[in-house]
Amino acid sequence: MADSLLLPSLEIVQGLLQTPAHIAPKYFYDSVGSALFEQITRLPEYYPTRTERQIMAEHGGAIAQQVGAGATVIELGAGSCEKAKDLCQLLAPTHFVAVDISTEFLHDAVAQLRVALPGVDVRALAADLTADFALPHDLPQQRRLLFYPGSSIGNFDPAQALELLQRLRGLIDTDGALLIGVDLLKDQGILDAAYNDAAGVTAAFNLNVLSHVNRLIGADFELSQWRHRAFFNALESRIEMHLQARVDSVVHWPGGERRFARDESIHTENSYKYRADDFVQLLARAGFARTQVWSDDHAWFALFLARP
Ligand SMILES: C[S@@+](CC[C@H](N)C(=O)[O-])C[C@H]1O[C@@H](n2cnc3c(N)ncnc32)[C@H](O)[C@@H]1O
Repeated sequence: MADSLLLPSLEIVQGLLQTPAHIAPKYFYDSVGSALFEQITRLPEYYPTRTERQIMAEHGGAIAQQVGAGATVIELGAGSCEKAKDLCQLLAPTHFVAVDISTEFLHDAVAQLRVALPGVDVRALAADLTADFALPHDLPQQRRLLFYPGSSIGNFDPAQALELLQRLRGLIDTDGALLIGVDLLKDQGILDAAYNDAAGVTAAFNLNVLSHVNRLIGADFELSQWRHRAFFNALESRIEMHLQARVDSVVHWPGGERRFARDESIHTENSYKYRADDFVQLLARAGFARTQVWSDDHAWFALFLARP
């Protein structure tokens, strides 16, 4: 049984047939990919999760004061819901909705969250943020807080990020807000290390996309023929993740095939790194004119509370 929302997809085949080939990062997240991402968050090299939680711990009181009790919190790309648990304990919302593409992992995380937050109406919504998705029709419209942590916005190029932020603006009224976590530009060595951990967990996460694609489109990628590659592209201000062919190969799926030469790459992820001021401007262009920012001592990561 498919363990994600995604139907065997024309999008995947089209991406594989392009040069350079690419697979969208949302396909990382089957149940195995989601579990591997949780391991990544605990790696010594992977500072974003730790740093964002630190900022929340330090400035949670100020955030709670701004948002107030009794809001409706909607987390986009909720994953394990660990950050949501921290946030909901601070904010005491009436409703919490976890939105994620990784269906089984989402339902397990939400079941645990319900136990931790007995007074909150906790829901799971399996949906793809890159498509049009609808929130539950009976969800309060007033005082919605969209929570988009983990710098997932960095997976979109600036034009796509603007389009997504504009769509998010459409989900809230003028009394709503967006709390969004963004990874900031920093020393290249720290960035490169975060995506090339010594234990090889990020490599396993990257390679797992091929197992997921094998299941989704019936392809025959042989994982041992591919290697993980991640590096900072300073010109584009982004980390790029690729899978590079170790050997010449032909990958087949029902109705098609793709020949890969040795060393050819499949581009699997971008993770854009922002200057805080540039992100404030992006938010303003998307309709979030009033923004407050909290960061850590090294200015590695920032949390933006943005209002229409
Ligand atoms: C980088 S993880 C962040 C998880 C968690 N929010 C955190 O901050 O640690 C990205 C999460 O977004 C989900 N995701 C990725 N692409 C998505 C999409 N297009 N639609 C919905 N969820 C998506 C993944 O399944 C994963 O749980």
